Amino acid sequence: MENLDQMLSDAAAAFAAAADINALEQAKARFLGKSGSVTELLKGLGKLDAEARKSAGADINRCKRAIEESLEARREELRNAQLEAQLAAEALDVTLPGRGMGRGGLHPVVRIQERVEALFHSIGFEVADGPEIEDDWHNFTSLNTPANHPARSMHDTFYLQNASNVLLRTHTSPVQVRAMHAHVARHKDAERIPDLRVIVPGRVYRVDSDATHSPMFHQLEGLCIGEDISMAGLKGVIIDFLRRFFETDELQVRFRPSFFPFTEPSAEIDFAFMSGPNKGRWLEIAGCGMVHPTVLRNGGFDPQRYTGFAFGMGLDRLTMLRYGVNDLRLFFENDVRFLAQFQD
Ligand code: PHE
Repeated sequence: MENLDQMLSDAAAAFAAAADINALEQAKARFLGKSGSVTELLKGLGKLDAEARKSAGADINRCKRAIEESLEARREELRNAQLEAQLAAEALDVTLPGRGMGRGGLHPVVRIQERVEALFHSIGFEVADGPEIEDDWHNFTSLNTPANHPARSMHDTFYLQNASNVLLRTHTSPVQVRAMHAHVARHKDAERIPDLRVIVPGRVYRVDSDATHSPMFHQLEGLCIGEDISMAGLKGVIIDFLRRFFETDELQVRFRPSFFPFTEPSAEIDFAFMSGPNKGRWLEIAGCGMVHPTVLRNGGFDPQRYTGFAFGMGLDRLTMLRYGVNDLRLFFENDVRFLAQFQD
């Protein structure tokens, strides 16, 4: 049965040459398929006489089984190889260091805002707030700003479409009248309205954009109203605040006469460090003044009896000076490499 041995080794060689399961199934058909060589041999048995058929049949079947075994062995080999390839492809290197979760933190302007709130809180100021979408009355009219005032122009103020009396507040001052009304209402039965002391930190909007101006920025409004509030009180509060904020008594503060429709008299506040990198340079930090009688009246206070001071400070400016940052835009670009430097 030399040809059977030959057939078996041919089959083994064909199976070994099959590189994948598909090729193996094709090789199988050549030997065990409907017209495969083993099947043909079995078909030929009919022509033999009974005795010869028996022994030839047994030989062919033995060869067939051997071929089937060799096929199964190769199948197993190919399956294992495929599994291994798949495992290698999907491998997970558990020894790689993780990416980490990253820790969030407060924005530098928010940190400064909290610091400023704590300082003013310690001298009896509460925090008030108001809407960023304001009406024309609170933002301008109630603050004694005439209809033709340049600040009301479209070049300076963001008006909301189809509603020219609705706008993005251009300063935190509209909260002055809101806070006054709320305070007066709270003490409507009092013989004498207790002092109103609030600060208003918040976002404001102007049509402006360069290295020192952003269309959105932060202000800190201050308002103090009572029976004997004076400009001297304003100066004391501001000078004390700046010294505590910058943690140095080595600074000078000056009040330069200025104009705002809602204060009379009005001033700009500049200060200069007496040491350090900014030594001797006057830095503009706020506008201020005594609250105009019309504004007091609009807020529900009797200007014959009560007086008050107000100021509006640049919160971003304070943040830049405190941290030594010279481009305002950096605060609003959301670059984590910049922002992460302010975390502790
Ligand atoms: N609202 C003024 C501004 O934005 C600042 C200011 C506030 C001036 C309060 C006087 C009193 O420029």
